[in-house]
Order: sequence, then C-alpha cells, then structure tokens
Amino acid sequence: MPAQLIDGNALAHQIRQQVQGRTAALKARGVQPALHILLVGEDPASQVYTRHKVADSTETGLAATLERHPADLPEAALLARIAALNADPAVHGILVQLPLPAHMNAHKVIEAIAPAKDVDGFHVQSAGALMTGLPGFWPCTPHGCLKMLDAIGYDLRGKHAVVIGRSNIVGKPMALMLLQRDATVTICHSRTAHLKAQTLQADVIVAAVGKRNVLTADMVKPGAAVIDVGMNRNDAGKLCGDVDFDGVRQVAGWITPVPGGVGPMTRAMLLVNTLEAAERA
Ligand code: GUN
Repeated sequence: MPAQLIDGNALAHQIRQQVQGRTAALKARGVQPALHILLVGEDPASQVYTRHKVADSTETGLAATLERHPADLPEAALLARIAALNADPAVHGILVQLPLPAHMNAHKVIEAIAPAKDVDGFHVQSAGALMTGLPGFWPCTPHGCLKMLDAIGYDLRGKHAVVIGRSNIVGKPMALMLLQRDATVTICHSRTAHLKAQTLQADVIVAAVGKRNVLTADMVKPGAAVIDVGMNRNDAGKLCGDVDFDGVRQVAGWITPVPGGVGPMTRAMLLVNTLEAAERA
C-alpha cells in the first residue's frame, strides 16, 4: 500500500486559522502583532519568499512590513536599522532574509537581532534555548516538520530518527527537537559513509540536504515516516525535494510531498513565532 500523504498545505491552513483567532484576541487587547522583514539586494528567490511571508501575515491579521535595501547597503547601515527595530515596541518580530550580499557577515547581522524578536530562531540565544529546553524561538522549518509528525499522531518516544543534513537552521535543530521527544537520533550528512545502512534502521527520516534523490526506495524501511525538506528542480524544471517521491512512497508509511509539504509549514511557523513574540511582549 502506498504511503499516506502528510498534507502541508492543509495543516498550514489550520495553523493559520489558529493564528488568526489568537491575533484577533490580541488586537482586542490593543496589541497589533507586527513582523518586520529586511530584504537586502535583488535575489529572485528571496523576493518571492518575502512576498509570500507578507501575504501570509496580512491574511492572518498580522501586520507585516517589507523593508527593501539595495545590494550595496553598508553592513553598518543594516545593523543600525536592526538596532532601531529592536528598540521599537510596535515591532514584535524581525526577520533578515538570507542570503545577504557577500560583503556582509550574516552571523554578525543575525546576532544583532534582539532574541525576543528573533522569529526565525537563528540567533545563538535561540539555538541555546532549544539546546537547553529553555523558552525561546524555534527555527520554523524543523518546527514545522515536528508539527507534521504531531498531526499524524506519531509517537516519537523510543523511535529511531535519522536526519540527513547538518545545517544550523534545519538539521541540527531538527535533531534536538526529535531528541526532546525521546527519539533516538542519528545525524547524517553528505559525507556519511554507508548512508543506506543508517536510513534502513530509521522509523523517521528527515531529508534536508538540498540535493535530488538523496533518499531512494531501497534506503527506506517499510512503514517509515519520511519528511522531505528539500527544494530542488528536476531536469524538466519542476519543483522536487530530496526524496525520490514516486519510489519512496511505495515503501514508506507516511511521506510529505514537494511542493505542498514542509514549505507551507515553514511559513506557518513564522506566523506562530511572530504571534508568540507579540503575546510575550
Ligand atoms: N532564506 C531562505 N529561507 C529563509 C528563512 O527561513 N529565513 C530567512 N531569514 N531567510 C531565508
């Protein structure tokens, strides 16, 4: 029997409705939750992503501002804008769209954001909060993946999860979130020897490498839950993930599609973080 699909669009829609309700309650108390996005340069993908983030926000009643700057903006000017937004009580969430132009130090820029407004969850303090179990913002993509497992009622206790990918914004935080749910976690990456031997042991596989066909049907234990974080193009120019969807869906128990899987969930979790930033302010 082919895998059951975990529908990211439908789940993200539910989450947006919950955000809308909580936003209305905040507004009734005189608080307008507000997200401020800083976009530097003309990266085409970033322009699309930030437009979507603004549209999602306004649809759910959050105020969203997209502040655009030319690619040659000095780093000091961006840091000054962040300092001003940090001090502005009307702004609850600050998001600096990545990648930044090459003359900027992305770490320095992210660390300039007040942790209480770090709705991307990229600040060292947010990473530390996740690591230690203290309150803080969790990065949106892995948090969205966890919500997808929650949505199918997946009990992670004692299960073996394999995360493929070790980025600071997906692989590493994903592994910590799964650990926090009492899963046993293996982090693999593009240099892992005998990757298939690892994935064949897994009850849950999260693929977050950014390369097509990282996970094929022969690498998946029957019934496993497969979460595909990848966003790639196939030879025909069509959007695809890291997972060989048609093959793996014949073996897996659950699978997320691309598009319509993790992507919409990432966007939904940004709204949740922004709302929570406003609720905590
Ligand atoms: N660029 C691609 N994805 C993201 C994201 O989730 N946050 C930010 N700030 N930049 C990105």
